[in-house]
Amino acid sequence: MELELVNRYISRIPEDEDHPYLTGAWRPQTAEWDAADLAVQGEIPTDLDGVYLRNTENPLFAAMKLYHPFDGDAMVHLMGFRDGKAFYRNRFVRTEGFEAEQKAGEALWAGLAEPPSLTKADYGWGARGKLKDSSSTDVVVHAGEVLTTFYQCGDLYRLSGTTLETLGKQDWHGAFPFGHGISAHPKVDEHTGEMMFFNYGVEAPYMRYGVVDKANNLVNYCDVPLPGPRLSHDMAVTEHYSILNDCPMFWDPDGLKAGKHATRFFRDMPTRIAVLPRHGRTADVRWFEFEPTYVLHWLNAFEDGDWVVLDGYFQINPAPAPPPNATRYETIFRFLAQDQKAPRLHRWRMNLRTGATEEFDLSDVICEFGMINGQHVGRRHRYAYAATRVSGMFLFDGFVKQDTETGATQTVRLPEGVFASETAMAPRVGSTAEDDGYLVTITMDVNEDKSECLVFDAREITAGPVARIRLPERVSSGTHSTWAPGSAVTGWRTADDPIAATRL
Ligand SMILES: [Fe+2]
Repeated sequence: MELELVNRYISRIPEDEDHPYLTGAWRPQTAEWDAADLAVQGEIPTDLDGVYLRNTENPLFAAMKLYHPFDGDAMVHLMGFRDGKAFYRNRFVRTEGFEAEQKAGEALWAGLAEPPSLTKADYGWGARGKLKDSSSTDVVVHAGEVLTTFYQCGDLYRLSGTTLETLGKQDWHGAFPFGHGISAHPKVDEHTGEMMFFNYGVEAPYMRYGVVDKANNLVNYCDVPLPGPRLSHDMAVTEHYSILNDCPMFWDPDGLKAGKHATRFFRDMPTRIAVLPRHGRTADVRWFEFEPTYVLHWLNAFEDGDWVVLDGYFQINPAPAPPPNATRYETIFRFLAQDQKAPRLHRWRMNLRTGATEEFDLSDVICEFGMINGQHVGRRHRYAYAATRVSGMFLFDGFVKQDTETGATQTVRLPEGVFASETAMAPRVGSTAEDDGYLVTITMDVNEDKSECLVFDAREITAGPVARIRLPERVSSGTHSTWAPGSAVTGWRTADDPIAATRL
């Protein structure tokens, strides 16, 4: 293995820290690495070509009072595959907040679980206001570059898809809505090169929606008025429409008046789903009503004649009570334990001609963080690859492949003490079918204090990984991942050896 320690940072987190999201599989890293010619068990397929990207929350400073795992600074891990070889590098996203705290030598912004009055900076980001934009929630590839986002709405940070160097903020030729930011989970249409996004906030109209073309021009941006502040997390697209939502779980309006951000589930209010043409305007938004729930993540959407079909994860219990004998941390962070919310794959159908609606479960398997073959985003999909959850914690103990047509499932359960990242689907070069490709994930093995990148054949995931690649050290758990084919990454094809060619 060819290994280079690029940077090592000083952690100001106490060594005796017992916070469950700063220890174990969530232990932050302090090092940035470049690694090539990694040790491989099995064989890296030669038709696996591109990058698996994993965004993680990775703090360097002690919290002011109580750390929330979504406060951590973004560290992105890149696993590149080309010509049957793999290379790896990891880098902090050098956000404005990260740079300011490095300079100050301490945390400057109060986190999500802390009183905003503790914030030392006189500026900040996020729908809630005055938060640090950690950019650590999601990661996508658009217009050849890696983009990281923050779920509370922040800036769009650009990283090189080969070196992972932070290139700055994306401003869409001056048209980026810096006053509003954008939410996590913009959606990229690989067929048109467009990226659809939304943002939300505490002031009317409370939500906005936009489209950026493949050349980074903001070609649509319109209000999506809501009855009040909402906490939408994700959106979906079809070939011609975009889908936004107003789920009945949001900051309690009475609390908001008193400056408190207490999330409450309003079980007597419907879930409302908006459909508007991709390039439509405010007047084109149509709302459809469904059973109350909260949807953290949609899987995908597509058109079926007059119907718009939307798949996502319906939470049976969006606001779980603390479990019996819960610890303080389990009580505070119970909303992060997806198993207690019992999400399962569900289908919402909306008829654009008649206004009719239908909804039903596709499965009773409790899972979330579903991924599909990226070529099917906005197009009809059949297969979902979703994470299965550890009880009581935000950790994935494996993943499940779900066939939405037959209901068949294949499940991979990792050994106790070994956890998966969000597992992305990488279509094989020249693939001929939706599941003709590979599943890629990075593990956190607490037993042996190591991380591996695992590659599975997406058609036979229960056969075990076709390749296991050892990383330089154990990485921290985090939230989202993505796959991008090499053809989508600027600079990928310009060199025979990506790591040699992109060495800083
Ligand atoms: Fe998310």
